[in-house]
Amino acid sequence: MKPFLRWAGSKRKLLPKLTAFWKSDYKRYVEPFMGSACFFFSVRPTRALLGDLNKELVATYAEIRDNPMSVWDCVSSLRQSKKSYCQLRKVHPSNLDAAAAAARFLFLNRFCFNGLYRTNLRLTKCLQRLDRIGVDFVVSYADCREARELFGGWRVQRVAVQRNIAGFVGARRCAYELVISNRTAN
Ligand SMILES: C[S@@+](CC[C@H](N)C(=O)[O-])C[C@H]1O[C@@H](n2cnc3c(N)ncnc32)[C@H](O)[C@@H]1O
Repeated sequence: MKPFLRWAGSKRKLLPKLTAFWKSDYKRYVEPFMGSACFFFSVRPTRALLGDLNKELVATYAEIRDNPMSVWDCVSSLRQSKKSYCQLRKVHPSNLDAAAAAARFLFLNRFCFNGLYRTNLRLTKCLQRLDRIGVDFVVSYADCREARELFGGWRVQRVAVQRNIAGFVGARRCAYELVISNRTAN
């Protein structure tokens, strides 16, 4: 199943590598930084816990899960034009009901200019904790010397990916990601 959001830092291009770490008999899937959740939609686990710092993103997923038809009705009523994009962007989601706020999020996500995100390296502490309590993990992280040093204690694969975060096609380029796991791929 394909994700319905376009998300900076999406793992879509890494899916062939990441899915090799998935076992169908895992009891539970946990993804704390879900974004477009493309790995989740690819493996479709029966039990999952998804989270994200972005409250609007989380509220959108929850509304699609709980009231898909209301969200669909709201999305369908939006006109695809620059004017309606600019008008909708000015509306604060707290002034909309849950379905309309989710539709707004989907619409802006679909038609916005490509974005960029940053994260930090405190991730290693979290991975060490998961490793200690016997949880299998797979993480991808932009390749750099610091990350190679930090994650070097686990299995690390360096993978080439096409980056699509630049707004202009000519500025898109190939970059490297590290796929880090505490287990071997299937
Ligand atoms: C690279 S994106 C995730 C990409 C996702 N795996 C995908 O395939 O689309 C990183 C996500 O982490 C979220 N995030 C960043 N810092 C966070 C934090 N401290 N706690 C929870 N989520 C966080 C961001 O809002 C963003 O959606």
